[in-house]
Amino acid sequence: MCGIIGCVGRGERTADTLVSGLETLEYRGYDSAGIALGGSKLSVCKAAGEIAKLKTALGSRSMSGEPGIGHTRWSTHGPPTDENAHPHADCTGDVAVVHNGIIENYQELRAELDEHTFTSETDTEVIPHLIEAELAAGTDPEDAFRAAIARLEGSYAVVCLIAGCDAIFGTRKDSPLVLGIGDDTPDGQALFVASDVPAFREYTDRVVYLDDGEFVRLDDEWVVTDSDGVVREKSVETVDWDPEETGKSGYEHFMLKEIHEQPRALRQCLQGRVDELGGSVTVDELDNLAPTGVQFVACGTSYHAALYGAQLFREQGIPAQAFLASEYATAVPPIGNDLVVAITQSGETADTLSALREASRRGAETLAVTNTVGSTVARESDRKLFIRAGPEIGVAATKTFASQLLALNLLVLATTDASAGEVVPALRDLPGQTQALLDDSGAEAVAEQFYDAPAYFFIGRRYQFPVALEGALKLKEISYKHAEGFAAGELKHGPLALVDDRTPVFAVVTGDDEIATKTVGNIKEVEARDAPVVAVTDRQNDAAAYADHVLELPETHPHVGAVLANVQLQLVAYHIANRLGRPIDKPRNLAKSVTVE
Ligand code: M6R
Repeated sequence: MCGIIGCVGRGERTADTLVSGLETLEYRGYDSAGIALGGSKLSVCKAAGEIAKLKTALGSRSMSGEPGIGHTRWSTHGPPTDENAHPHADCTGDVAVVHNGIIENYQELRAELDEHTFTSETDTEVIPHLIEAELAAGTDPEDAFRAAIARLEGSYAVVCLIAGCDAIFGTRKDSPLVLGIGDDTPDGQALFVASDVPAFREYTDRVVYLDDGEFVRLDDEWVVTDSDGVVREKSVETVDWDPEETGKSGYEHFMLKEIHEQPRALRQCLQGRVDELGGSVTVDELDNLAPTGVQFVACGTSYHAALYGAQLFREQGIPAQAFLASEYATAVPPIGNDLVVAITQSGETADTLSALREASRRGAETLAVTNTVGSTVARESDRKLFIRAGPEIGVAATKTFASQLLALNLLVLATTDASAGEVVPALRDLPGQTQALLDDSGAEAVAEQFYDAPAYFFIGRRYQFPVALEGALKLKEISYKHAEGFAAGELKHGPLALVDDRTPVFAVVTGDDEIATKTVGNIKEVEARDAPVVAVTDRQNDAAAYADHVLELPETHPHVGAVLANVQLQLVAYHIANRLGRPIDKPRNLAKSVTVE
């Protein structure tokens, strides 16, 4: 999705600061980029394609000035062209605006502004023209910005630059915007505004999260006001991760680095929450919470975690269901006293946010299970359970899924009568077992053997069903191969028709209970259709006997077996995509944080 950066107090380094900020936002997914620099006249430079194209365009002209704003665009209205790239300007060239989100009433506003000349197909371009009209009527810059924003319907984070004005102005509604409070420099205090902390983390760890409806003015100070212009006191928070965490640390891809960060991420999730001696689980954020029913809302990988979480609760006798967030509001289930749990890595997914808001509107108690402390979902939920995975840059969610599964175990242990029994020791062993698996996985050889198959299937039951779905999602999103995950028992109800000797079936099966035996039966069904079978197994059952390849898992508790099996499937997906030369960290058409519904 689109990314925003703006800065003041960076003097001659303004353009470089904006471009390097945009580079750190590349992971969000984009298809054009641009910057604008302030002064008595504004200068704008933008280009379709990668940031390298913007740099080339910048190299061919001498641009200077401050403050500055920049943007990476992920097309919604109009294709990725130079004209549609942000920043967008008014007719005079004195106003430049960057925007994330969607202006729903842009056609109406555009019709109203029929004397203005529009140069793009975007919804965004109405904003600079609205500001222009206000300035022409004699309104001062800050009020002109507010008046223009008051006309907008939809979702937005907007940052604006006006010629001859030392300030940049910003505001948000349903799209994140965060301030970075830097140090005093010879050019003044360095201040930043961005859609995401990594854009300015290199310069400061002190941040201020804006809430919906708040406005900010950045010049030689920062002032946050509400929509009536009344000053708001905001707390400055400190982010607890290093800028290096957003680098690749020698790995070829962020995805591989993040897969290898899982042991650490899991340890961080456990820290201070699991009593080393007694085996009990205490999560302060969940104090006195004892749900009698649970509804999960989530999307993509987080939805797979939700399926797993619902299973955990149901096994404790607590009714629980996972909903795709984008479908939740189409027919909201009776909520009663249920706890509504939004699972989201980013905390900014529009579908999840709107499901959460729908539940809140109906009076539900809400809990965010998220990785992102200052995110909108975290701030709008009654309670929060942070998964503490650290920043995840690769578009494909990896370590955050593992940490979500672990956090869901803690949630169930802390809020139900579930016995810590064998689970807690298994959870404590999980980081070490994950490391051992990463050190000796066997997945690369399997990927080498099957990278050119036309389609792939993934099957599993119980906790391994969400893992099968996740294995398929991971493979399809980064390799562009057709991959489907199924509940193992469903295969014979239709998908089996697709299985032949060219379609590898990854069967995840752990333990030696009746469930495992049934999955082994499903393996036999595909084996009988000549499908190559890769068993992901702890060898406690007969799966290996019917498989062409085995990806080994250690013996452990079934809750934990799912996390480990998923590590194997992450590695298979990674190595297949790498063998095919795909742009693993930035797959086509996808974005890290999906802030439109
Ligand atoms: O930030 P969220 O967890 O809310 O994101 C939800 C999905 O967009 C996300 O999990 C997506 O499916 C990933 N790209 C999967 O790897």
